[in-house]
Amino acid sequence: MIYLTIVDINTYSTWLEIDLNALKQNVAEVIKMTGTDVMAVIKANGYGHGMRPIAQACVAGGATWCGVARIEEALALRRAGISTRILVLGFTPASKIPEAIEHNITVALFNAELAQTYLEYVRIHGGNLRAHVKVETGMGRLGMPVEVVTPFLRALKNSPIQVEGIFTHFARADEPNSDSTPNQIRIFNTLLNELDSQGLKPEIVHAANSAAILNFPASYYDLVRPGDLIMGMAPDSAQPLPPQYKPTLTWKARLISVRNFPAGQGISYGSTYVTRKEERIGVIPIGYGDGFRRVDNQQVLVGGKRVNIVGRVCMDQCMLQLDDVPDAKIGDEVVLIGKQGSEFISVDEVAQRWGTINYEVVCGLAERLPRIYGE
Ligand SMILES: Cc1ncc(COP(=O)(O)O)c(C=O)c1O
Repeated sequence: MIYLTIVDINTYSTWLEIDLNALKQNVAEVIKMTGTDVMAVIKANGYGHGMRPIAQACVAGGATWCGVARIEEALALRRAGISTRILVLGFTPASKIPEAIEHNITVALFNAELAQTYLEYVRIHGGNLRAHVKVETGMGRLGMPVEVVTPFLRALKNSPIQVEGIFTHFARADEPNSDSTPNQIRIFNTLLNELDSQGLKPEIVHAANSAAILNFPASYYDLVRPGDLIMGMAPDSAQPLPPQYKPTLTWKARLISVRNFPAGQGISYGSTYVTRKEERIGVIPIGYGDGFRRVDNQQVLVGGKRVNIVGRVCMDQCMLQLDDVPDAKIGDEVVLIGKQGSEFISVDEVAQRWGTINYEVVCGLAERLPRIYGE
């Protein structure tokens, strides 16, 4: 793979490599699997991968929509020249409605009073606001109660708020054996049938996140909304990523110091690790300031081997026990996430160490980490 960058890769001491080809292929795989349109969910800086290149690759892979959490993210995509349809999945402050209209950004409606306020802004600004109604079917987060949706849509029918879509979100789609998702689908379908019979059903219906794409074909409708899966991560750590989906992210660093310490040397703050004999200790310039967690018992790859991080992770550095890789020297590449030789550290492995999910690992990757995109 060629990583296209005007800056020589050797100038970085730590960086992220993002495989845009894998990303495009993942989007294409979702289209193949579902037979629907795809809204690439690229909120939170494209799940930490960087929003603009990720959006461009998703569109190149066939996504017809981008989904974000906030209008600021949608506006940033427009400024970056992304012209595809964009839905703000979360809350949009009413004062931002003129910008949504101006930049052809679709907003979510999940509260009738808020929609009234939006209407006032639309009337002052002029034009039409595109919207998708979000329905509460069991997630217990945002969404209109099912029973108010029909009168709400009837009231908006000839208004300048153009409701072109309707959607819901699943709470437990990563549990293929739970009744939760089938129940949510049933509730949603009953509503859709009612709306259809009254001539009120919006054109675009969507519900499926990554886990639902893998587990519940009945949830596909017109459009699916994957995030995790297109980034090449498994939405459920208990189920491996299906082989047609490829990981997109590698996190690398370089050894910036390698030296032997005598027995009895405390390593890092608090001297929680003390060398037992003469030991070879390396330093990599990453720490919790990069979104790497300050927890014990972590490993990285050096010279194709797993080595232990020893002592406390600092803000900008951590130390490695290099006795098993005696040839390791300053400048050698270290892999924190990804492949090196035949070894592989997945985002899920890191998530497990940190007691969290892969989503949180990638969303926490600090802005200061250079992102290098390859195709
Ligand atoms: C409303 C909504 N749809 C879709 C997604 C994408 O979820 P996933 O990354 O699990 O595919 C999210 C992400 O949290 C979301 O909030």
